[in-house]
Amino acid sequence: MKRTHHCNELRAAHEGQTVTLAGWVHSRRDLGGVIFIDVRDREGRTQTVFDPSDLPADLFERASALRSECVVKVVGKVRLRPEGTNNPKIPTGEIEVAASQLELLNAAAVLPFPVDDPEVAGKVNEELRLKYRYLDLRRPEMARNLRLRSKAATATRLFMDEQGFLEVETPTLFKSTPEGAREFLVPSRLNAGQFYALPQSPQQFKQILMVAGVEKYFQLARCYRDEDLRADRQPEFTQIDIEMSFIEREDIYNLIEGLLQRIWKVALDLDIPTPFRRLSFQEAIDRYGIDKPDTRFEMELVDFTEEFRGSAFKVFSGAVANHGVVKALNAKGMAGVTQGQVDAMTETARSFGAKGLAYIKVEGGEWKSPIVKFFSQAEKDALSKKLDVEEGDLILFAAEQWLTACEILGKVRLFCADILSSQGKLSRAANRFDFLWVVDFPLLSFDKEQNRWYSSHHPFTAPMAEDIALLKTDPRKVRGQHYDVVVNGIELGGGSIRIHQPDVQKTVFEEVLQIPPEETKLRFGYMLEAFRYGAPPHGGIALGFDRLIAILCGTPSIRDVIAFPKTAKGTCLMTESPSPVSPKQLRDLHVELKAMKR
Ligand code: AMO
Ligand code: AMP
Repeated sequence: MKRTHHCNELRAAHEGQTVTLAGWVHSRRDLGGVIFIDVRDREGRTQTVFDPSDLPADLFERASALRSECVVKVVGKVRLRPEGTNNPKIPTGEIEVAASQLELLNAAAVLPFPVDDPEVAGKVNEELRLKYRYLDLRRPEMARNLRLRSKAATATRLFMDEQGFLEVETPTLFKSTPEGAREFLVPSRLNAGQFYALPQSPQQFKQILMVAGVEKYFQLARCYRDEDLRADRQPEFTQIDIEMSFIEREDIYNLIEGLLQRIWKVALDLDIPTPFRRLSFQEAIDRYGIDKPDTRFEMELVDFTEEFRGSAFKVFSGAVANHGVVKALNAKGMAGVTQGQVDAMTETARSFGAKGLAYIKVEGGEWKSPIVKFFSQAEKDALSKKLDVEEGDLILFAAEQWLTACEILGKVRLFCADILSSQGKLSRAANRFDFLWVVDFPLLSFDKEQNRWYSSHHPFTAPMAEDIALLKTDPRKVRGQHYDVVVNGIELGGGSIRIHQPDVQKTVFEEVLQIPPEETKLRFGYMLEAFRYGAPPHGGIALGFDRLIAILCGTPSIRDVIAFPKTAKGTCLMTESPSPVSPKQLRDLHVELKAMKR
């Protein structure tokens, strides 16, 4: 049964050797009566040749009958391909194996989609690929993703071990602590009417491990969140989860920069420059309109509040009078924008409550827009200068409260970047990696509907020492010791220095977040208790491992880097889960279903 070589191994130097290969029939071509079969295994593929003039008739017949994806063993002699027939695209392209024996190890049924077509992902509906995931994973593109993932995991473990970290496994049957995303619940058979929850992250356990004296913890941790899914979110996903004692933010920055540098080197043989740039939350919003900016291109937001304070254009001067701002961006080369595209951008502005989205097209030496007639010469000069206005530009404006104006233009900026890059006018190369830290987030955000503060990150994040006094007086101004690592517009990870003093933590729960004391005790009592027995100062971070791999692989969807992902509706099409269970199972779990409408 043994093979002598894998399918990516044979070269010109093997000429004349008799070899045995095993794998799948990747493709079969019939050229003038000679059959060429590419045999594929995990490593690659090799061309085998079945020539009727050299072979017994029955063997040739069997080769002719092979269907794609049959599993075969081929014995033959390595020879150089004839002059002019080398395939420089594959490493085994100089040689072929002249078959002398063929064994069909297993037949394959007719395939639901071709495995040998590199464009399958674009042509075949993803649901079909998910249903037959084992076939999809045979495709070399997907096999490469799995391999990169495994390499990155190994590089992570080696690096963290070198840095003195312990990998500790934490439970995945945890306690319900509703805060943040919705949880998956698991009914307990032995404790009627009680439930475990699957952890959204090992946050609380990792902090308790610091109290336990572990000092440096990491884990490739499985996390569960019952959220609405998108391309970059799955209900179960993996984090590189990290926590350390006796550290400051700088220690985390150094560690993560070193880890990412290592992963990029091992997986892609790329040297990423460190240290990463740092941007405050305030500056990220102000310049890019988002806290995870794609900094591979500029198109920055520019402030014109002062210039339009006294403007005759009331939409702008009115917004300023109302304590708002006027911000603009220049989408260079987009004067040819279509009405449909303008409508889509205006819709974005409307979804933030704006009345509209003013714009100017610079075409034929003219500023084309119904609003230009209201602008003074000084206003036009200021726009020209600060936005470097040229022929072909499209200027877009938002006149709103600061955050809203920035967020609108932040979305518009990405929308324009999509269009410009599809036209080849802007580069967002997937092989360029622009890492940065976003820091100094506000500790708290205000929920208008519920009329209360909630944690921007999570309730364990420490306020900046100099802002602690503001917690009770002016919560809006309190900055958290929270940091996010961002690359190419994607939030790769986030973490913080934690609160380690039980009294500060209690104040945050009860006075700032207004969780009633009884509930605090019920939900977080064990943590507050643990902190009473000598909790070291500590902090940590979690990197989204699936997102990291998707970035390494240059794919926009994390489904492409997870062996068995769920659909947007949270289902697994291959195993058909979730699925109903028997009445007995429910009884054992003390669960009763109400009749459901189908
Ligand atoms: P946070 O909630 O920011 O922090 O998560 C950290 C990182 O995990 C990834 N991530 C996801 N990936 C795929 N699917 C999802 N549904 C999903 N949700 C999050 C993101 C994100 O940046 N315990 C804290 C970390 C800490 O403070 O140390 C935490 O979980 O890449
Ligand atoms: P109006 O005077 O309301 O007709 O608006 C004139 C132009 O300004 C239109 O193109 C609107 O889309 C745009 N506009 C209205 N409100 C805003 C705003 N808050 N920010 C930017 N542009 C706006």
